[in-house]
Amino acid sequence: MTRNLIDFIDISPEEFDGLYSLCSDIMDSPESFIDACKGKVSANLFYEPSTRTNLSFQTAMLRLGGSVVGFSDPGSSSVSKGESLKDTVAMMSNYADVIVMRNPKEGAAKAASLYSRVPVINAGDGGHLHPTQTLADLTTIRKHRGHLENLNIGLCGDLKYGRTVHSLIKAMSRYPGVKFYLISPRELQIPDYVRNFMETHNQKYIEITSLEATIDTLDVLYMTRIQKERFTVAAEYNKLKNAYILTKSKLANARPDLLIMHPLPRVDEISVDVDNDPRALYFKQAQYGMYMRMALLKTITENKPQDPDPCDIGGCRCKNPRCITQSELYLPRLEKKVGDTLCCEYCDKEIEL
Ligand code: NCD
Repeated sequence: MTRNLIDFIDISPEEFDGLYSLCSDIMDSPESFIDACKGKVSANLFYEPSTRTNLSFQTAMLRLGGSVVGFSDPGSSSVSKGESLKDTVAMMSNYADVIVMRNPKEGAAKAASLYSRVPVINAGDGGHLHPTQTLADLTTIRKHRGHLENLNIGLCGDLKYGRTVHSLIKAMSRYPGVKFYLISPRELQIPDYVRNFMETHNQKYIEITSLEATIDTLDVLYMTRIQKERFTVAAEYNKLKNAYILTKSKLANARPDLLIMHPLPRVDEISVDVDNDPRALYFKQAQYGMYMRMALLKTITENKPQDPDPCDIGGCRCKNPRCITQSELYLPRLEKKVGDTLCCEYCDKEIEL
């Protein structure tokens, strides 16, 4: 099993199949796993608000017989005294068997993994990625559809800042016959690096603005919240916040076996009259997320602690103001090519030299 889970594609499709089958075993017989992580400790470092992800990671570890330490408010930790990410992670990785981290900066989990003796799980890094939500999403699709291939997947709402969307696109691009319908206002279209990823992987997609025009062709409709916390101008958020609202009447033309998904929390983008529709799976999706996190924690903590290799200091050329390299200046320069484009290995944005 991969040592860290920073980006969903750290897990091979075969590893995902293994996690899915372990998750199914846990769901069938949770009592057989009550000691699976006995004596293990998870450090949950949440620098950004979270309900589902933090609490589902916590309950997952507790249900495996392990324990959890950490913070959900960086103001109550040494972070408020100015401690660097590097120092917090290096220290916590002496105490715990796994680090689960959420941080508002893009690339923060990748940065943490450079200094950790134990596996690091990305529980959301700014508007970038959210691979464990993708574990919940793929589990939902597979349980309710039986397979992950040959699907028309509509992703609707904030595709620019919605990190769950970015991880889901990367994950589903690995299965043949998938086509994405990317439904968003022009202002909230997917970032260039996600488009570049799809182009270099010959992934089929179309970018559109109307949900109604396409709803009848979809196998999966993945609604998302407009990510208020990522907007720098409140008026811009207010203009876009009600761009899409899925209602019972809009589902009139949808397929009878449509899967309606949402990573939650929902604000207004799915009206409550949809909740009783048998096609609405978002609460089940959250439940699968906890069982998948149990499978992940059990598997990833089988890795033995290992001192990280020493890193170079400084020299990053990324200019993305939301990238972790803009605030943690000691981080080593890490770059990669995606197609012909030179990208930052932390946040994936193009490096403009
Ligand atoms: C998502 C997130 O944090 O990105 N929530 C979650 O983890 N289930 C989606 C969101 O906040 O809109």
